[in-house]
Amino acid sequence: MGQEIMRVEGGRELKGEVSINGGKNAALAVIPIDVLAQMLRHVGAKVSFENNERRMVVDASGVDKYEAPEHLAKLIRGSAYFLGALLGRLGISKVPMPGGCAIGERKIDLHIKGFEALGAQVEDDGEVVFVESKQKLRGAEIFLDIASVGATVNIMLASVLADGLTQIVNAAKEPHIVDLANMLNGMGAYIRGAGTDIIRVRGVKKLHGCNYTIVPDQIETGTLMIAVAAARGDITIHGAIPAHMEALSAKLLEMGIRVFEGDDMIRVLSSGRHRAINVMTAPYPGFPTDLQQPISALLTLADGESEIDETMFDNRLRHIHELVKMGADAKVYGQIARIRGVDRLRGARVEATDLRAGAALVIAGLMAEGVTEISNVHYIDRGYEGLEKKLCALNANIRRVTI
Ligand code: EPZ
Repeated sequence: MGQEIMRVEGGRELKGEVSINGGKNAALAVIPIDVLAQMLRHVGAKVSFENNERRMVVDASGVDKYEAPEHLAKLIRGSAYFLGALLGRLGISKVPMPGGCAIGERKIDLHIKGFEALGAQVEDDGEVVFVESKQKLRGAEIFLDIASVGATVNIMLASVLADGLTQIVNAAKEPHIVDLANMLNGMGAYIRGAGTDIIRVRGVKKLHGCNYTIVPDQIETGTLMIAVAAARGDITIHGAIPAHMEALSAKLLEMGIRVFEGDDMIRVLSSGRHRAINVMTAPYPGFPTDLQQPISALLTLADGESEIDETMFDNRLRHIHELVKMGADAKVYGQIARIRGVDRLRGARVEATDLRAGAALVIAGLMAEGVTEISNVHYIDRGYEGLEKKLCALNANIRRVTI
């Protein structure tokens, strides 16, 4: 069986208009996607897709199993959310350690700290996590040492039906956290403060169904913004929420790239060389770690030396080695990358090491002279729905071929 690669032709400016989908991470946090749909069916839910798979319908009335299937749970990080959801609903859950991109140690100690604070007992042998509460969970105050997205999601899911008030202190503030709280409130939950440092969850007796539309994907929006900044050109992104993009927009403006914001659109114009900048990743509203790899590709042709400080994950700079294969002048010192702008990148055979590294290499391919071939493109499909289709609609020339 041949291997699928992406062939990216460099040197083509991007131009035109594009619309943004609901969030990948929001989808994982609010409505699961394929793998999570299978996991939902495994625990007893009925799941169907409508409207050209843009809408997922879940009937959870039949949920009666507390174990997530290992072969599925290991595929994605989002499977961790079954721990909190099933604990909250059934008082018991058993999930193999979640998968997810190899970008560093993906601990869940803060998730476990939350479950134990709510009164559950947790057994974690490093392979499978088993959580059980013989009595009804009771609200608690939980301080998160790190504003962890996953821990914030899981504690919200576990506490919505608990007795009394839960306060999550130093909670994650990402748009998809607010999205989850809004959806749970639409289901009858009582959650206040999502998007701030302290989220309060007052337990209710039960939840009911609801219809919900998830927010546009902040990271897909940012990837397209960086792509046009890198390839040069002029694109308008419809359906975007400019307020979610502030950290990236500020960095692009700092580089001399023009960003115009409307109510639900963002226009990016890019020409000529750009200024080098420094980037430090941080929890929202700081610079998103998921855009660190894409912007590092852009910085390979900036005027001067840029420094990237990846504070969130301890192994999220492996794409730098691939950019160097294309002619970038970049070096990694622990969790810091120093990139000195060069005159040009050249197309090469490169390998995606994880989801956002794949996106970075597509962007580098758009910038390079000649054709870039990217292997392990399956990583890109973990977080983007048809990234290359959207870019081709904006004048890029990207083909998937099996070699
Ligand atoms: C979510 O991962 C996203 N994944 C990641 O997106 C994203 O990079 C990350 O949030 C930060 O925004 C999904 O939503 C499926 P964290 P998550 O818990 O929840 C440490 C992508 O490219 N930590 O906020 O795993 C952890 O090791 C992916 O779309 C603990 O130490 O992120 C990491 O260093 C990649 N203990 C940091 O916190 C814990 O209990 C941030 O992790 C939990 C986390």
